[in-house]
Amino acid sequence: MTAAKSADLPSQPIPAAAFLAGLTIRPERADDAAAVEALHAAVFGPGRFARTAFRLREGVPHDPALSLVALKGDALVGAVRLTPMRIGATPALFLGPLCVRPELKNLGVGKTLMRRSMEAARVEGHRLVLLVGDLPYYWPFGFRAVPGGAVTMPGPVDPARLLWAELVAGASDGVRGDARGG
Ligand SMILES: CC(C)(COP(=O)(O)OP(=O)(O)OC[C@H]1O[C@@H](n2cnc3c(N)ncnc32)[C@H](O)[C@@H]1OP(=O)(O)O)[C@@H](O)C(=O)NCCC(=O)NCCS
Repeated sequence: MTAAKSADLPSQPIPAAAFLAGLTIRPERADDAAAVEALHAAVFGPGRFARTAFRLREGVPHDPALSLVALKGDALVGAVRLTPMRIGATPALFLGPLCVRPELKNLGVGKTLMRRSMEAARVEGHRLVLLVGDLPYYWPFGFRAVPGGAVTMPGPVDPARLLWAELVAGASDGVRGDARGG
């Protein structure tokens, strides 16, 4: 299979089930990096570099086995990254960015990437996943608001958007401290 490309896709309405049936989900490879970066730029713009989440990930490689791309043919349509991190002394994963090509929203690509990456993380023995995002979207994947003050991020974050999910029951019990990548 060749590297993911930022190819153009048709813009007419697409039935979600048919679209998902033709989707390939696989781990991100080194030669996908340009297409993934182009997707991040298209979805988040230059403001992405100023985000606290970006700061946490800065200089820390994402986990290539758990970071997934969604492809239609060779065209990249979505991507999610998981990056090793710590909260105090507790190892965790930081999820994000999760993004889907704007013209292909609401077809289930995001949920598919979430389901598959969370399952892969669980199988690999990870216990806790942190992210910054909208609780209504992430709730079905087990994410809940981090209790006030438990996690100190390396920059400003709306506390209502700081979420974590236990992959193992009780994994967040007593977890507190500074969040840092690595
Ligand atoms: C958020 C995003 C990843 C969702 O992926 P998607 O493939 O478009 O969404 P899905 O098809 O998996 O899910 C669609 C459902 O999620 C809901 N949804 C989408 N974004 C949402 C949000 N921010 N908050 C709450 N619900 C949301 C939709 O209303 C839809 O609901 P329904 O199933 O009840 O109709 C995608 O829209 C995206 O890339 N957005 C811009 C980047 C971004 O905000 N990323 C998340 C950063 S934390």
